[in-house]
Amino acid sequence: MTTIDYTDKIPNNVNLAEDRTLQRALEHWQPSYIDWWQDMGPDGAQGFDVYLRTAISTTPDGWAHFGHVKMPDYRWGIFLAQAEQDRKINFGESKGEAAWQEVPGEHRANLRRIIVTQGDTEPASVEQQRHLGKTAPSQYDLRNLFQVNVEEGRHLWAMVYLLHKHFGRDGREEAEALLERRSGDRDNPRILGAFNEETPDWLAFFMFTYFTDRDGKFQLNALAESGFDPLSRTTRFMLTEEAHHMFVGESGVSRVIQRTCELMKQHGVDDPTEVRKLGVIDLPTLQRYLNFHYSVTIDLFGADQSSNAATFYSAGLKGRYEETKRDDDHVLKGGSYKILEVKDGALIEKEVPLLNALNEVLRDDFIRDSVAGVARWNKVIERAGLDFRLVVPHKAFNRHIGSFAGLRVSPDGRVIDEAEWAANADAWLPSEADRAFVASLMGRVVETGKFANWIAAPAIGVNKQPVNFEYVRFN
Ligand SMILES: [Fe+2]
Ligand SMILES: [Fe+2]
Repeated sequence: MTTIDYTDKIPNNVNLAEDRTLQRALEHWQPSYIDWWQDMGPDGAQGFDVYLRTAISTTPDGWAHFGHVKMPDYRWGIFLAQAEQDRKINFGESKGEAAWQEVPGEHRANLRRIIVTQGDTEPASVEQQRHLGKTAPSQYDLRNLFQVNVEEGRHLWAMVYLLHKHFGRDGREEAEALLERRSGDRDNPRILGAFNEETPDWLAFFMFTYFTDRDGKFQLNALAESGFDPLSRTTRFMLTEEAHHMFVGESGVSRVIQRTCELMKQHGVDDPTEVRKLGVIDLPTLQRYLNFHYSVTIDLFGADQSSNAATFYSAGLKGRYEETKRDDDHVLKGGSYKILEVKDGALIEKEVPLLNALNEVLRDDFIRDSVAGVARWNKVIERAGLDFRLVVPHKAFNRHIGSFAGLRVSPDGRVIDEAEWAANADAWLPSEADRAFVASLMGRVVETGKFANWIAAPAIGVNKQPVNFEYVRFN
């Protein structure tokens, strides 16, 4: 069960050959997927040989195989983590019962919604990143972009498999719709806000993979706890791939900071205008990008009070982050949780039933995890001997979902009026001028071992290869 058969048309470890109906349905979906990839996948990458990793087994050790692959020939497939013997439902009202191998009728609509919402983010990010290959700062970065892209494509396969296998005709229709929506499209957009934003430059890409792929980590972890065992096994394997995406983001931003600090020290300049003249991204601009990506990403966790979140939990469909490591009754009936609300123009804490606050619980877990990486970025600035520090904005800043929607809040958490917001918006969020400046730095660097001026080389290469390895062969 753990080894993946690559002789099949659709590589898989789910014995697809034994389920002819499902196999036919997926083989019918496959050409539409390839069409979507040709239309909306990485622009101008056809014919390149890219040093990619491909899953060969789902055992924790050594699942990955590295080698040069022609981009459209990447073998997308269906991989589930190993089944856990006698797995139980670990939370909610069915706690202690055997995990479901089939969809319980009463949870069908909610499970489908959860799977479609997750599935929709996967092709969305590929669409958002479609043009970045043209301005890659190095072969190493281009390779990382393509790795992220093919794995997001595979994550779509993961969700489509569940829809086809477990949701009959509705599932097949949803799988088609996943290829029809388009990120940022006015008439048929992707489901969630952050996945309709543009990712126009590489700083946005690194911030996106740091923050927004981390939302993926937390959502997938919550789904990995699901009582619906196929969803749990799929998402557990997806998480092994997600870790790399966040690495690309964290190390990418870190290398941008490193290069900026290097040149600031070397030339003894501090003023952002002077820093920009050196062809690197000034630290205040980095802070504004951070503010933007952080705030749109924390919106993804949904409203701070949500009866849906309570239903998903009590039904055993979606758990908390690290549910089984938590020391409580995993039913959460009488519990409470502190959320923020606005009262008399100020943010104050308020206790609400824990079950209704589970979106906020997951958001707070995400925030803790995000802050840790920002501290590591600050170490790079500190080591350069500079005083500047990056900081995540207050969680009410620039929110469009939940009780802060429509409210103006400064990055330090003060409720402010429209005039103060308007006077400061360009200091808090990337302005058009910031984006134009960053765009002006973006130019394709593809000579082996060379890097664009605005970013430092990584400390080590991919899969222990040297930094000046030929990660992409352009043929
Ligand atoms: Fe993903
Ligand atoms: Fe991802």
